Amino acid sequence: MRTPIVAGNWKMHKTIAEAVELTRGVRRGLMDLTGVEVVLCPPFTALAAVREAIGPAHIGLGAQNMYFEEQGAFTGEISPLMLAELCQYVILGHSERRQFFGETDDGVNKKAKAALAHGLTPIMCVGENLEQNRAGETARVVGGQVRAGFQGVGATEAARVVIAYEPIWAIGTGVAAVPAEVNRIIGLSIRGVLADMYGEDLAQSTRVQYGGSVNPTNMADFAVQSEIDGALVGGASLKADGFVSIVKTVSGQT
Ligand code: PGA
Repeated sequence: MRTPIVAGNWKMHKTIAEAVELTRGVRRGLMDLTGVEVVLCPPFTALAAVREAIGPAHIGLGAQNMYFEEQGAFTGEISPLMLAELCQYVILGHSERRQFFGETDDGVNKKAKAALAHGLTPIMCVGENLEQNRAGETARVVGGQVRAGFQGVGATEAARVVIAYEPIWAIGTGVAAVPAEVNRIIGLSIRGVLADMYGEDLAQSTRVQYGGSVNPTNMADFAVQSEIDGALVGGASLKADGFVSIVKTVSGQT
């Protein structure tokens, strides 16, 4: 059985003070909740403060990006070595990074390997854009991203990766994907490719989140799908009550 995982991707939002306040709200709202893993992904600048605000609560902490080198002359970048001191997870290959910052499948692959080597759990994002979706290329694009992202990653490490399927056209648009279609693509292009690369056991044990305009109202429709193991939540993770409600829906303890 896969434990679902709900991660809040705060993107470029929240000062340190605001991040601490939001964390406290989430912590209060999720007291005693079981059966779901929760991860907060604030900006780099708030990681240390959020870690402190989480305290002993069972809430994970993640970064939104990293570079693959351990150290060096890479102005403005953050390394896996630095993140490993602060958090357990790192979002890699988010479509906004691919779209605005030139990230490629190859770069995501390098980052995934570096993150795994430092004990971090990558949340690897994949997803097709609107044009690809309309052209019926979703399965091919998503399958290709998974294959490229895991290239050269050994089975033991691969088993630790969390995948987020995020159709780009559904991110931040208020138009979520159709849950049954998400279920189909995850089965076909994500678990299918993992099964091909690593075997059926790994394909079945890997957690795959859905992301793209998830909110407290539509989460239930995704949570009931057999292939979907939680969500990567953007906009709706910026308010404690909304995020808490999403997590509760996933845990079945509403
Ligand atoms: P959204 O973002 O929930 O605001 O659509 C999701 C994401 O980008 O991870």
